[in-house]
Amino acid sequence: MPADIWAKWLDDADREGAALDRQLRVLRSQVRDRVLHKAGLGRGSRVLDLGCGMGFLSLEAARVVGPEGLVFALDSSEGALEELSRRAEKAGLGNIRPRQGDITRLPLEDGAVDAVVARSVLSYVAARGEVLREAWRVLRAGGAISIFEPVLSEEELSLDWGEERFLWIRLRQLLESEHPAYGFKRADLVDAVRQAGFEQVDSFTWHADVTRRFSGEEEALDELESGLPGEFGLAAFWRRHGVSAGETASIARRLAAQSVKPSYRDILPCVYVWGVRGGAGETKER
Ligand SMILES: C[S@@+](CC[C@H](N)C(=O)[O-])C[C@H]1O[C@@H](n2cnc3c(N)ncnc32)[C@H](O)[C@@H]1O
Repeated sequence: MPADIWAKWLDDADREGAALDRQLRVLRSQVRDRVLHKAGLGRGSRVLDLGCGMGFLSLEAARVVGPEGLVFALDSSEGALEELSRRAEKAGLGNIRPRQGDITRLPLEDGAVDAVVARSVLSYVAARGEVLREAWRVLRAGGAISIFEPVLSEEELSLDWGEERFLWIRLRQLLESEHPAYGFKRADLVDAVRQAGFEQVDSFTWHADVTRRFSGEEEALDELESGLPGEFGLAAFWRRHGVSAGETASIARRLAAQSVKPSYRDILPCVYVWGVRGGAGETKER
């Protein structure tokens, strides 16, 4: 996927984020603070932010670790890294090292960092085990990993699909078998962290209410097209798998009509997972 698709999508998401009401902005900063807290950061820590985007975690991590610490901010998107650098400069943070690269092959030495953090990144990489093994390699003994991922395969839309019920079941099954962001459940992610070699692995689920009420079919179609970026967008994904435009439109129409009912809810479980690379004797509880 061309890097700029991510930069544009993140930029749009950021503008939407800025327009969120106060309560939702507080929730976003709680996600960030919890991920950083579980990573056990302190003054002078060296941190790797996997798929850092425009710096949602990196900028705050840089404040927490202070000038004597370092944040390696890794992403494949050049546009996102440019924006991150601008933001770091504006905030007077000189301890962020943006790096363009792929999170399945980390450009760091063994044991180079004290902590690895990631938010909403593993969902976009099918080779999640590889990423986690690389994270384990670049962590020092006793260092921590802390990640946050929405679990789309466990999302619950409480709506009556009516005549589109079987169509929706088919499209959903297609997502769960072929789309990386729908290809894991919470337990799979926790297991993958353990299998990568981490110890003291624990997790916590936050059920986010992401209910959106659509003004009509067009707005719902737009969400199916670009709610996830580029090739990850559901409409594009279904097209590639032979789903007709008419079938996607039927889903959008039903979603729009049902979304305005007071009983409609879209609940998305989001999982925090954290663990430690062993080998440093007893590590303190986090
Ligand atoms: C949903 S965004 C999250 C960005 C940031 N972590 C945040 O919380 O705002 C996913 C990010 O992962 C990056 N990404 C996806 N696959 C990647 C890969 N294989 N290697 C490096 N970065 C990747 C994208 O460029 C994008 O910036």
